[in-house]
Amino acid sequence: MENYVNITDLDNLQDTVQEAIELKKEELQYKTLGEGKTICLLFFNNSLRTRLSTQKAAQNLGMHTVVMSFGSEGWQLEFEDGVVMNENKSEHIKEAAKVIAQYCDIVAIRAFALLTDKEKDEAEKVINSFKKYAKIPVVNMESATGHPLQALADAITIEEYKTEKKPKVVLSWAPHPKVLPHAVANSFVEMMQLQEADFVITHPEGYELNPEITKNSKIEYNQEKAFENADFIYVKNWSSYKDYGKVIKKDTDWMITAAKMKLTNNGKFMHCLPVRRNVVVADEVLDSENSIVIQQANNRTYAAQIVLKKILDKI
Ligand code: CP
Repeated sequence: MENYVNITDLDNLQDTVQEAIELKKEELQYKTLGEGKTICLLFFNNSLRTRLSTQKAAQNLGMHTVVMSFGSEGWQLEFEDGVVMNENKSEHIKEAAKVIAQYCDIVAIRAFALLTDKEKDEAEKVINSFKKYAKIPVVNMESATGHPLQALADAITIEEYKTEKKPKVVLSWAPHPKVLPHAVANSFVEMMQLQEADFVITHPEGYELNPEITKNSKIEYNQEKAFENADFIYVKNWSSYKDYGKVIKKDTDWMITAAKMKLTNNGKFMHCLPVRRNVVVADEVLDSENSIVIQQANNRTYAAQIVLKKILDKI
């Protein structure tokens, strides 16, 4: 694999999930594969899980890691061509990407959506500029429109916990006080479309995700109806896509409660974290035995590790 920017960059999701599960049984089995190789992790936004799990994954493969909080420590980058750079942008991506590529063999990038201009976000300027100018493998650690490392960890987690060949999996919107991007939900939908599952998306009207991503996935506007007999409830907030970047509903009635979880088939509760307690989900659910959010976060390491292994196999 050359780059990992979308979940569809994997040749075969099911095989990759099985390989990750095998890797998890003995995580140091490829500990010399990355010897002499360096990965740069560039963060334009905050992180806990992505930063630590990707670093650990690289370390398990014998790689060196260089981590930079680019958003707070780096020069402000210009991404447009032909600009007179006489304002606050100090360095052009052309130089920055080429310089970074000299220091490492793989570059991993986190750069969230700004949620002010749909076209600009969908152009994925940061990731695509690194691909264009760095000319080394690029890993998406959450971009404007996708979080494929999270989606792969979610697929591993569902595989580990499913008790049916074709489980019912529900992606539910939940309230949040802040304006959040669509990346996690988009990648989860894309991943579920590659799975054998009864997949349902539930959200209030007005929160439809990009129809080019949801395609023919089932949408149920009644959250409680969607939860009936579900084996997995995957919860995430996102802002409006149609009324781009707007919060159009602040009511707490979509929060995940124990009463709603009772409608499921003893369903597992999933969330990518970080999660706001008693806003997105009630304590009683997050603290219950059916919550698998910690195990899900653990799988971030093996998702990153199998992705880095596949890239290292090719360089
Ligand atoms: N789920 C996830 O990406 O977590 P972080 O934002 O903490 O990296």
